[in-house]
Amino acid sequence: MPQNTALWLNAKRAPFTIGPAPTTAPRADEIVVRVRAVAVNPFDRVIQTMGDIITPWITYPFVTGSDLAGEVVEIGSLVTRFRVGDRVLGYAAGADKRRNRAAEGAFQTYVVVLAHMAAPIPDAMAFEEAAILPLGISTAACALFQKDFLAMNAPSATPVRTGKTLLVWGGSTSVGSNAIQLAVASGYDVVTTASPRNFAYVEKLGAREAFDYRSKTVTADIIRALRRETLAGALAIGAGSAASCIDIVGACTGNRFVALATPAASFDDVPAGRGRLLRLAPAAARMIAGNIRLALKARLRGVRTKFVWGSDLIANEVGPMIFEAFLPTALAQARFVAAPRPTVVGSGLARIPEALERQRLGVSAAKLVVTL
Ligand SMILES: NC(=O)c1ccc[n+]([C@@H]2O[C@H](COP(=O)([O-])OP(=O)(O)OC[C@H]3O[C@@H](n4cnc5c(N)ncnc54)[C@H](OP(=O)(O)O)[C@@H]3O)[C@@H](O)[C@H]2O)c1
Repeated sequence: MPQNTALWLNAKRAPFTIGPAPTTAPRADEIVVRVRAVAVNPFDRVIQTMGDIITPWITYPFVTGSDLAGEVVEIGSLVTRFRVGDRVLGYAAGADKRRNRAAEGAFQTYVVVLAHMAAPIPDAMAFEEAAILPLGISTAACALFQKDFLAMNAPSATPVRTGKTLLVWGGSTSVGSNAIQLAVASGYDVVTTASPRNFAYVEKLGAREAFDYRSKTVTADIIRALRRETLAGALAIGAGSAASCIDIVGACTGNRFVALATPAASFDDVPAGRGRLLRLAPAAARMIAGNIRLALKARLRGVRTKFVWGSDLIANEVGPMIFEAFLPTALAQARFVAAPRPTVVGSGLARIPEALERQRLGVSAAKLVVTL
């Protein structure tokens, strides 16, 4: 195999550096992918600034990155779903505690991927489009389908209407765009929130109705809209989403469960180096206070909540449910689309830190992609 190159984190909170990387042969249940496009996520970025706290198990030097698309170049001995040359998307699970492996980080030219966390993509689908899916769909699927979360019916080509409604707060986010589509493919109605400029976007993905999350009356408006319905629960995405979802689910009939995708406080402004403690201490205090407030609110309203960890599906039935049973045919038949749309920042590993910084500054119904 040709020389591999990676975007390295050589130590905790170190700056990214580009350098040679080993080429790793696949184990029995893995494939190796020559990466053509990666997408960037908040999680990939905070591993650099906050990895010592949020992913303390990571051993350095490490390669981060979750989302990739490319061509299969090697296949493990037990893998039957793929051939060399197949065009695939894959979830790079290197940062998961059960993997903790630089060879499985997306930000390098050749990546080891768990075969059950990869899916073939249609010929007409560009790598830039396919790369936006893995972490978004995985996080949404963990929330919707894991038994200790919303435990909803599995997605299929012929969904049976359940008569239940899922609330997806933050429908124009990457996680939300996937959650809307998965819920509809599983037979649920979806009510969501977004900025008004993205109402048409979330409705095209299948949401029945959208509300402006910045409106002062949004919580009351959604409760009124859902008053006569049976809820499948809620997925809370975005700052402030958890408190509103707990209020709504607590006031409605149905599954009194809120899956939380966004932490109670943001660590986005905490730098890896100089000035770190000054920003870290208040953010940590906000996190503790926020978690206590949410726990009290949930208890008062009789609502259960649980924080989603977007890679948990690698170790349970939800991974194969999505990447093997659902996604390949759903993409081939255009029943599931890669959303939000990709914005290509540039080409080459050197453009990834810039893409991560642009992601931190904020995107709207868009996913930032770098081609390799
Ligand atoms: N727990 C996990 O495993 C996991 C995994 C992935 C992501 N996440 C978290 O999920 C969240 C979304 O991540 P992402 O990558 O999907 O985001 P993203 O696509 O980068 O999010 C951008 C979108 O956020 C929306 N938004 C901004 N503030 C909001 C708010 N207060 N409420 C609702 N929507 C808001 C904006 O909507 P408009 O433009 O319509 O205003 C924008 O379209 C982040 O907090 C991220 O850390 C968690």
